[in-house]
Amino acid sequence: MKLLVCGGAGFIGSNFVRIRVRDHGDDVVVLDKLTYAGRRENLHDLTDEIRFVHGAIEDPVAVADAIAGVDAVVNFAAETHVDRSISEPDAFVRTNAQGTYVLLEAAREAGVRYLQVSTDEVYGSIEEGSFTEESPLKPSSPYSATKLGADLLVQSYFHTYGLETLICRGSNNYGPYQYPEKLIPLMVLNALHGDKLPVYGDGMQVRNWLYVEDFGRGIGHALAHGAAGEVYNVGGPDECPNLEVVQRIVGLTGNDQSLIEYVTDRPGHDRRYSLASEKLRALGWTAQVRFAEGLDQTVAWYRDNAWWWEPIRSGDYLAYYERQYGRALGSA
Ligand code: NAD
Ligand code: DAU
Repeated sequence: MKLLVCGGAGFIGSNFVRIRVRDHGDDVVVLDKLTYAGRRENLHDLTDEIRFVHGAIEDPVAVADAIAGVDAVVNFAAETHVDRSISEPDAFVRTNAQGTYVLLEAAREAGVRYLQVSTDEVYGSIEEGSFTEESPLKPSSPYSATKLGADLLVQSYFHTYGLETLICRGSNNYGPYQYPEKLIPLMVLNALHGDKLPVYGDGMQVRNWLYVEDFGRGIGHALAHGAAGEVYNVGGPDECPNLEVVQRIVGLTGNDQSLIEYVTDRPGHDRRYSLASEKLRALGWTAQVRFAEGLDQTVAWYRDNAWWWEPIRSGDYLAYYERQYGRALGSA
């Protein structure tokens, strides 16, 4: 297959590109704006095997260049951090909603299959049980609202124009190459440096953890075997409260639990996410990596790959950290 992977220089996109090139021999074009979260280093071992186009998904000229001759489009490109969507929602509307519209138009013009990478956050929070693809849609944050806006546009292109669309809604991913604004890499890097570990609220919010390669395989599976117009949930095998995640990281890095610090909660914080993934499992996909094993591997990856995160923990990241947490990284 020849694939256009938008946002392929980000965390999940780069892991997906690696799976497609290495395990499937696909020909891949990556279109990426290289925001703070997108980095060529995430594709460092694949530079000779892919075509890279530096551009934004909301730019029709860049999209027209990148889409030429492909069989399908997989869209990962997005602004993805909930905390940033609360403080600066503007880019979320532009990229997540307008950008998806531009891509859909280009896919319609080219007549190619289109897979939108979406999130469990479009369903909102659930106290008990798990969301199915039929559950009501109740996003809480500007991030999840713009992701739902994109999902609805995607479905409208199936119903109105007959574009072959698919939507994969993933639960919380973790693994190599994740920007350290998200819970697991932030806590791992802080723990490796002996910095405080800022837990929001009481830390009893629950997330449904999915190893990034399992999500990549799930997306590939839906692309190959899914029915046009359908939504597929892609959930992880294990749920865990945030506090327990952080306690496990403290243990895996040989630190003291006193590094944990309770800080002001995120506004509108969803309490629990949980996905039922029977629909995709019925097509033959299953998550292979349990949380305990994946977390162990992830901590080891960050410990062994300082070349990747050292340049990040400087400049803009330090300024972001101080704005978000109200004090400089390493100051306590
Ligand atoms: P990320 O922030 O690591 O990467 C996003 C990528 O998109 C970056 O490479 C960035 O440069 C690129 N990008 C941003 N704006 C762009 C634009 N306007 N044009 C082109 N490229 C642009 O995000 P991620 O965690 O890898 O998430 C990828 C996708 O998966 C997103 O759509 C996200 O909503 C979805 N998702 C993420 C998770 C998760 O736990 N991280 C779970 C479910 C779904
Ligand atoms: O559920 C899928 C979603 O998972 C994706 O769609 C999003 O793109 C991705 O960012 C992620 O969203 P979350 O808000 O769940 O992830 P985050 O890593 O920001 O936070 C995970 C949990 O940890 C959440 O309950 C907030 C909490 N947290 C996070 C940070 C960064 C803390 O307690 N302290 C922190 O410093």
